[in-house]
Amino acid sequence: MRAVTIQTFGDPAGLAVVDLPAPVPAAGQVLIAVEAIGVSGADAMIRRGTLDGYGFRPGHVPGSEVAGVVTAVGGGVDGSWLGRRVWAFTGLSGGYAQQAVAPVGEILPLPGGLSAAAAVTLGSSGVVAHFALAHARFAAGESVLVRGAAGSIGITAVQLAAAAGAGAVAVTTSSARRGERLRELGATHVLDRAGTVGRAGAGADAPDHYDVVLDIVAGPDLPSFLGRLAPNGRLVAVGAIAGPPPADFGMTLFAAFQRSLSFGTFSADTVPLTDRQAVRAEQFAAAGRGELRTVVHEVLPLAQAASAHRSMDAGEVFGRIVLTP
Ligand SMILES: NC(=O)c1ccc[n+]([C@@H]2O[C@H](COP(=O)([O-])OP(=O)(O)OC[C@H]3O[C@@H](n4cnc5c(N)ncnc54)[C@H](OP(=O)(O)O)[C@@H]3O)[C@@H](O)[C@H]2O)c1
Repeated sequence: MRAVTIQTFGDPAGLAVVDLPAPVPAAGQVLIAVEAIGVSGADAMIRRGTLDGYGFRPGHVPGSEVAGVVTAVGGGVDGSWLGRRVWAFTGLSGGYAQQAVAPVGEILPLPGGLSAAAAVTLGSSGVVAHFALAHARFAAGESVLVRGAAGSIGITAVQLAAAAGAGAVAVTTSSARRGERLRELGATHVLDRAGTVGRAGAGADAPDHYDVVLDIVAGPDLPSFLGRLAPNGRLVAVGAIAGPPPADFGMTLFAAFQRSLSFGTFSADTVPLTDRQAVRAEQFAAAGRGELRTVVHEVLPLAQAASAHRSMDAGEVFGRIVLTP
């Protein structure tokens, strides 16, 4: 089968199309004929070598999220999965290929009306958005700021917060065009990356302070977003696209003692699998009905994985790039 491997870590040019033997499903696994592959920020971080402490080696097949048809099952797996179209989490490897294996507990049938491309755009990120809002104890009527809203996590978080009756849904983004697209998805206020007014006047009526800040970016500017929390406000870090915050971040939080602020990190890994799968199934059904929108930035052939990663590195992606084998 055709697959893409990381031959050298760093530049996207280190990605290569190769022929590999098709994987064989082990006990508890299914084999999937892949129709769509989601290209995630984690894939890019692995390819850049940012996560070399995790022991990734040359020859690694990246990709963790695919959708397609179950073509074989391993020992102990119900044969009724055969022929079904599913979304699957393949772990930290194996997704960039024509065939992939996944644990049967990490697959979910695709409802009618949901394309494979839409499924790999929503499958992982939607669950993160849902449980991150819950982790922040977000409640109807409260104001939310989503920092780094133009990715697939933020796009879903904006929609979920708006649908749940947020008093305001502000977003940070780098361009007016992206701001307009986020407004179409439910954002009420568009700010620049610093969280201040973007285009002249565009966010002038935005709240100064928010009950919840959902932060996908982190990096050196994270402390300033503590200053955007209302009393009793909660900032939840969901990602670290811009790297870790400064070492004295904790002191900024402590200095705001009298405003009763809370800071937390959130990883979907801490949510029980059954809860993740239940929310994912609800979100897939909502997306199939058109009630939850998925944003596919571009669909590219698997052989153009390097081009997809170049777009990621250049910050050009709104939503998610999908590869097709
Ligand atoms: N917590 C979890 O369980 C979990 C699960 C999966 C992934 N993640 C993490 O989530 C992150 C990826 O999320 P995603 O795919 O939704 O995001 P993404 O598509 O990688 O990025 C979202 C947006 O952030 C903005 N951005 C990028 N660099 C920035 C910077 N230096 N400063 C300010 N804004 C910046 C960009 O929008 P603009 O150009 O419009 O500003 C970008 O489109 C990764 O850190 C990944 O590790 C977390």
